[in-house]
Amino acid sequence: EQAEIGLIGLGVMGSNLSLNIAEKGNKIAVFNRSPEATRKFYAEAGELQGQLVPCETLEEFVASIRPPRPIIIMIKAGDPVDQQMELLKPYLSAGDIMIDAGNANFRDTMRRFDNLKDSGLTFIGMGVSGGEEGARHGPSIMVGGTEDSWKRVEKVLTSISAKFNNEPCVAWLGENGAGHFVKTIHNGIEYADMQMIAEIYGILRDGLGMSASEIGDVFGKWNEGRLNSYLIEISQTVLKAADPITGKPMVDVIVDAAGQKGTGKWSVIEAQNMGVAATAIEAAVAGRVLSSQRTERLAAEKIFGLPKVAEAPKDKAAFIADLESALLAAKIAAYAQGFAVMSAASAEYNWNLPMPTIAKIWRAGCIIRSAFLDEITSAFTKDPHVPNLIVTPAFAQMVKDTDAPLRRVVSYAALSGLPVPALASALSYFDAYRRGRGTANLIQAQRDFFGAHGFERLDGVDKHHGPWGSGLSEFA
Ligand code: 6PG
Repeated sequence: EQAEIGLIGLGVMGSNLSLNIAEKGNKIAVFNRSPEATRKFYAEAGELQGQLVPCETLEEFVASIRPPRPIIIMIKAGDPVDQQMELLKPYLSAGDIMIDAGNANFRDTMRRFDNLKDSGLTFIGMGVSGGEEGARHGPSIMVGGTEDSWKRVEKVLTSISAKFNNEPCVAWLGENGAGHFVKTIHNGIEYADMQMIAEIYGILRDGLGMSASEIGDVFGKWNEGRLNSYLIEISQTVLKAADPITGKPMVDVIVDAAGQKGTGKWSVIEAQNMGVAATAIEAAVAGRVLSSQRTERLAAEKIFGLPKVAEAPKDKAAFIADLESALLAAKIAAYAQGFAVMSAASAEYNWNLPMPTIAKIWRAGCIIRSAFLDEITSAFTKDPHVPNLIVTPAFAQMVKDTDAPLRRVVSYAALSGLPVPALASALSYFDAYRRGRGTANLIQAQRDFFGAHGFERLDGVDKHHGPWGSGLSEFA
């Protein structure tokens, strides 16, 4: 009996995904560049060995898979994927499907898809979220490629994906780069969620002077409410953990400089390319950049010192409730922005991205999974083409309810010198988005003044330049 699918790359993610596939009753062929890794993986697979076909050459690997062959490539994103595809190609036949399951830039995915166009081979760009645990026991899977290639892998992927109320968290989202684009935006939102939680942590720690463990308790409580989510849950867990070496709270000995591998940055770049304001995600990426400039920050603190923290509101419980609402409000902005980017990209690349489905498959398995995503699913199911999540009735009500707390929290942080770039950007986003009369009339006047760029008039009068005098076209 031939294997149903193959997988190349037995790193942690690849190994876990393979075990998940095998465990769900699918026979899978596996290959790794160094055969020792393949042998070790197989030796440790225990009772799942029967579902595994360990291979030491690409030739036997390919031959052991049932055509048309779906082959998952789970290796470091970038050039290694192109190299692996080239090595694989000589062994493949028409209809075979190479599946890149890494965090690829969707532009690479589009290129790879196009390059295979006349070869008879095809390509799937597949976003996989959920980290190591997700890969092993049920990730959220975002698929981009032809519908035919999706049909070939649908059964296996459905069997291994996370389930939310028995609904599988996997879907075909569109042609070519659709899956990797959606995964990139997932990560952009992930960055925003994480940054906003960290900003709230900063207010509790540096504003209210609470200990890591006390803050963990606050998050634990929030996790039972509207903010119920994986990221809040793990924040509680990490805040409560002690360092085995010093006995101090673990987070208190961790350097405050965040790493990043690029997907957050790509989502901001694509938002800009699409002309969509994704300010909360931008703030999150910038927040990580500033965090990484630790030496400069320490030097600057010597020059400027720190502002005195504003007096904390007397009613601490009420303020903590404000923080909870503020986080929800800011989260709404980040998700609304992320979905707006996807909707613009969907039009640009003709993907026809199904917004309700995207929200659905993010409800379990992925890093941003939350109760909140179920509410987004309902909102988009009722109104799949709404221009912005914020104006759906359910979210509009939530914004109305949380607007004042967000304002109080951002004010408190500003007066205390506590940086809250993502929370503040979310607030400004609301304030700009819901104001019918903005201030860009002045920008238009300036542009017309120095560049004769012209403007529209509110009264519709057909006169598009101001009385600025010399040299401007209207007066020339
Ligand atoms: C996921 C994660 C995962 C990983 C990213 C982001 O959905 O499982 O997004 O793909 O955490 O690579 O990592 P960085 O924070 O290092 O950019």
